[in-house]
Amino acid sequence: GNVTVLDHPLIQHKLTIMRNKETSIAGFRRLLREIAHLMCYEVTRDLELELIDIETPMAPMKSPSIKGKKLVFASILRAGNGLLDGMLDLVPAARVAHIGMYRDHETLEPVEYYFKAPSSLEDRLVIVVDPMLATANSATAAIEKLKERGATDIRFLCLLAAPEGIKHFTEAHPDVPVFTAAIDSHLNEKGYIVPGLGDAGDRMYG
Ligand code: PRP
Repeated sequence: GNVTVLDHPLIQHKLTIMRNKETSIAGFRRLLREIAHLMCYEVTRDLELELIDIETPMAPMKSPSIKGKKLVFASILRAGNGLLDGMLDLVPAARVAHIGMYRDHETLEPVEYYFKAPSSLEDRLVIVVDPMLATANSATAAIEKLKERGATDIRFLCLLAAPEGIKHFTEAHPDVPVFTAAIDSHLNEKGYIVPGLGDAGDRMYG
């Protein structure tokens, strides 16, 4: 599998504050949005450009513009929306898919309760966002669904991943590159990432 740890000092510094249990809901939400800006910058750095014709107030010119169709950001609810907000700050014209999923606390199997995606996913880069990759059951199911709807060019962006989740994910979707800020020690018996940051949805929304 293709896994990139985004080790920019600002990302790492902000992540440390987010992990701290003393950080407030307001602080956590703001930091996630800020980290999303930095991660969005990294995950889009290889997008192809093409020269388009424009006219400045001074002269006509050919100037670089991102090639191809608008990006799609796919957010796995709820916590994905924290990353989504920051991504949309940088790419305001992106299309958005919402995928409602929660983990059954006993089985850790994902339960889907909502799915709404733009109609044309073919020929678009789809960036799936969720802060946590624990068992990877949620992310693999979400991506399965996006592939059924025609997506072929997919990237997955998270804040924290467990080694177990990375293994499961890259086996299920070897074609989907993963970007994360950190790979933590392990999952505990309840499927939480350790040391992690707790439940991202709860820390952001209560
Ligand atoms: C969390 C997290 C991921 C999922 C990760 O969501 O935001 O979506 O669990 O776990 P997995 O890799 O084992 O599937 P949760 O089910 O707590 O829902 P919430 O974001 O709505 O709180």
